[in-house]
This record gives sequence, structure tokens and C-alpha cells, in this order.
Amino acid sequence: MPILVTGGGGYIGSVVVDALSARGESVVVADDLARGHREAVAPDVPLRIGDLTDPGFVRQLFAEFSIDAILHFAAWSQVGESMREPGKYFRNNYVGVLNLLEALVASGGRSFILSSTAATYGEPTSCPIDEASPTLPTNPYGASKLQCEQLLRWFGELHGLRWTALRYFNAAGATAERGEDHEPETHLIPLALRTLVGGSPLTVFGLDYPTPDGTCIRDYIHVSDLADAHLLALDALGRGEGGAYNLGNGTGFSVLEVIAAAESVTGRTIPWQAGPRRAGDPARLVASSGLARERLGWSPSRGDIRVIVESAWRWMERHPRGYRGA
Ligand code: UFG
Repeated sequence: MPILVTGGGGYIGSVVVDALSARGESVVVADDLARGHREAVAPDVPLRIGDLTDPGFVRQLFAEFSIDAILHFAAWSQVGESMREPGKYFRNNYVGVLNLLEALVASGGRSFILSSTAATYGEPTSCPIDEASPTLPTNPYGASKLQCEQLLRWFGELHGLRWTALRYFNAAGATAERGEDHEPETHLIPLALRTLVGGSPLTVFGLDYPTPDGTCIRDYIHVSDLADAHLLALDALGRGEGGAYNLGNGTGFSVLEVIAAAESVTGRTIPWQAGPRRAGDPARLVASSGLARERLGWSPSRGDIRVIVESAWRWMERHPRGYRGA
């Protein structure tokens, strides 16, 4: 039975599709290609283009394929945009999951893995953040994902759905074939590297945070380590074991440390200027991923920030204009 991967044309989804295919799983991708890329989906993987908030499109998917499991990546995922257009985030992120869950349960399907986020926690009360930390999102993006997690809990309780929510910290890096190509790009690592291939100088958002060098600290996790976690989570659901798990390395790097890593990897100077704080940025977000390590047997192996940045740089060197220039 094929696994449905929504958002399989996007950054993390496309890496997971490759990983599933590599271990011989049959995969179907659904993507509206609003921010995903046709070129990011291998030609032998069926791709259906449509909007998951349209129940008709979802019904068509289930009529065409016998879907037993869904890995759901398709979502709006920019914190800043969610503060300007909250309705768009709640509608797309919540209604998409609702339509998929109703169709999955009606067809007798069992398993659902949600791409969730550290943004479900909001401003952390302690660091590293574990899954027992309060979930008090400070933006509509995080709030919409938390609502999706609540849907999963209810469908689990009332319909026997097996579910897992994977709360990513800062996804980063690339594989040989797939990398980060967002438009607009808002993430630190690709923006820092883009300065070397014709992009504008980087603005560092705030040098006055209560951290050793004054810049924000984040837990960067390689996209291939995220992919490994999805495969393990799928296997665990097969054994009837689900839940919510943080995915991070447990080590934080400041913005200036990331810039230094980018300079070391590329051998070039990253041009940057100081700017004001970006609204809603907590000073420090670092994951405790002990639960994923213990229950899923997950062991991220690409935690070195230089390894992460180097993989992103290799991909950008090959795709300086992203997939359009592929
Ligand atoms: N930053 C800059 N300049 C930039 C871009 C980012 O200084 O041009 C800084 C940010 O202020 C932040 C750090 O670099 O301190 C990382 O910023 P990103 O935009 O790369 O990532 P975020 O930590 O804001 O967001 C990520 C995901 C979100 C998720 C969040 C969870 O992209 O989807 O982590 O905390 F919700």
C-alpha cells in the first residue's frame, strides 16, 4: 500500500520521500506546488497536484490509491507571515489535516505522522525543552500546529488512529539531491550562504539578547536526521507506538556561530550588518530529544554545525538559483 506524503515537493518532505523510496516503500506525493517544487519529486514517484483544504481533492486521492499511512508535511510554515495573515495559517494547516484524517479513517487507514514544530512551545520556561514543557504558542503558525496535534489526539482516542507528531527545531542542511529553496527565504543558513551567490548582505536580528555573544541560539538539525526520525516513527506506529517527540540535537548555536561556520566552510567572508530584533524570536531554543532517542531509537548523526552548513553550501553551489536553475 502506498504511503501518502503531502508536501513531498517541499524541503523536508522531498528528503523524506527519497528516504522512503530508498528503503523500497511505495510513495504517492500530494502537493499544491505553491511553495514546493515539481523538480524536487523523483520522476518515478506519482505526484498529484491539489489543495488539501478541498475535500474533493482529498477524496480523489483516496479513490485512486489505497492509502494506509500519511506523512503530512504540507503546511504554511513561516512565523512572520503567520503574524500578518493568521487566517491563512489556521485554514490551511488545520483544515488540511482535518480533511486528511476524515478520509483516512473513512477508508480504514491507520497511521498519521504530522510535521509539528518547536513553535508549539512558545517562549520556553526552561531550556532544553522537553515534551512535558508547557505548549503556549506565541504565533498563529505554532498555534495552528498545536491544534493539528489536538485533532490527532481526538482521532486517536475516538477512531483508533495511530499518530505521531514530530516537533522539529531548526531544520537545516541538504542531501546531494535536495535542498532548501523557499521563496521568500527567511531562514538563517540559506540567507547567509546566499550572500555569496548574489544575495543581499545578511541582517543579524538583534545583538542584545541575554546570550554569550548577544545573538539568538537555535538547535539546528540536519534534514537527513529528520528523515531518519520519520522512518523510525513510521515503524513505531506499525507496532502501535505513537506520541509527540522533539527533534533536535540538544546543542545550540548562536547566529554569529552559524556565520562563523559558514565562513569556515566556504573560506569566504559573509557580509552582515546588525539589525533590530525580529518580533517573536525567543533568545534560546534548544531541544531535549531524549524521548525520541529512547522510544524511537533515533540517533541524529550530523549534529556538527559545520557538517550541516557544508551540506547546504554544496547544494547551493550546484543550485545557486534553487530548483528553477536545476
Ligand atoms: N536570523 C537572523 N537574520 C536572518 C534570519 C534569521 O539573524 O536574516 C536569526 C533569527 O533571528 C533566529 C535565527 O537566525 O535567531 C534562526 O532564524 P530562522 O528564521 O532560520 O529560524 P527560526 O528559529 O525563526 O524558525 C524555525 C523554523 C520555524 C519554527 C521555529 C521553531 O523555521 O518554522 O524554528 O522555533 F517554527
